[in-house]
Amino acid sequence: MGIEPNAWMKDMPRYEPGRPLEEVARELGLSGIEDMIKLASNENALGPSPRAVAAMQSVAERMHLYPDGGGYYLKQALADRFKLRDDQIILGNGSNELIELLGHVYLQPGDQIVMSECAFVVYKLVARLFNAETIATPMQAFTHDLSAMLQAITPRTRLVFIANPNNPTGTRVTSEALAQFLDAVPDHVLTVLDEAYIDLLPPAEQDQAIDWVRQGRRLCVLRTFSKGHGLAGLRLGYSLASTEVTQLLNQARQPFNVNEMAQAAGIAALADEDHLAATRRMVADGVDQLTAALDQAAIEYVPSCVNFLLIRVGSGRAVCKALEQQHVIVRPMDGYGLPDYIRVTIGTAKENARFIEALEQVLAVVH
Ligand SMILES: Cc1ncc(COP(=O)(O)O)c(C=O)c1O
Repeated sequence: MGIEPNAWMKDMPRYEPGRPLEEVARELGLSGIEDMIKLASNENALGPSPRAVAAMQSVAERMHLYPDGGGYYLKQALADRFKLRDDQIILGNGSNELIELLGHVYLQPGDQIVMSECAFVVYKLVARLFNAETIATPMQAFTHDLSAMLQAITPRTRLVFIANPNNPTGTRVTSEALAQFLDAVPDHVLTVLDEAYIDLLPPAEQDQAIDWVRQGRRLCVLRTFSKGHGLAGLRLGYSLASTEVTQLLNQARQPFNVNEMAQAAGIAALADEDHLAATRRMVADGVDQLTAALDQAAIEYVPSCVNFLLIRVGSGRAVCKALEQQHVIVRPMDGYGLPDYIRVTIGTAKENARFIEALEQVLAVVH
């Protein structure tokens, strides 16, 4: 008889990532991935900032050394950019790691988290890891219903997760609604505002939550280099919060959780405004291109402010499978309680055109 795992680890749901190009190519018996496109993980179709690539190359020969475990220079760059102190910032191996660190610090069996039904699924998976309960509130028009979330808070609630903009719906709540929520949320709860996609919004609309952190509101803001900066493969995220919360998260992390290449690339990417601006233009053009084609084909979708679209196709999983046969990888949404939908990431103009063509062919057959 083997050693028994914690009871709550049994039937632990698995995170279903966008399928890697190589995996689908292997399954289809292709010799390479040249003819395939992946629009399944909300990555940046422009690729990484060239300045970030150069920075990675410049440190490649130092990889025999451990990284600076405190991430001093990147934290300084972030502190300058956001007018915060560096003891209000912690780096993570992707913002996913920071979500888990929040669990280590705040969740124990029997605690609760509150989130929206169709919000980023990792919140619920992390809660499960700590045997905490997830209270998921219904959305309104695919958008977080902050009043419902507030009402769902109980004395056992420790964390409330709000993804803004939200994945997979591509919607956002207003700063006014968030401010009201923060005014009303009880003292025993920490609000986690996950801003993974914030770099894709117009710059003037990006930094309201940072003001709140500066003002000392009870808030932990999560951000990432995976989306706007195009560095998903490096795994680099950060949180902005009070010194107290930051110190606790620091105590929970591994000593070298963020590698040296990621730190160097992060500093360079942060300074590359041109790449961010080009990314925002590509996304805006791509959203126009895709929504025009979907409108013309009378296919329903949820209007999005970021680099992906939730599209109603009938059986999402069957459509994904059929699209893979056409060498296009997108994401089924049944794991989010949306079996009729797929989520497609905005690609280059060429990739978007390929997706639309493949979707129309597939829908003609699958229904
Ligand atoms: C809302 C949201 N938060 C967090 C993440 C995790 O990002 P990363 O761990 O790459 O920083 C994602 C990734 O898709 C996301 O959609």
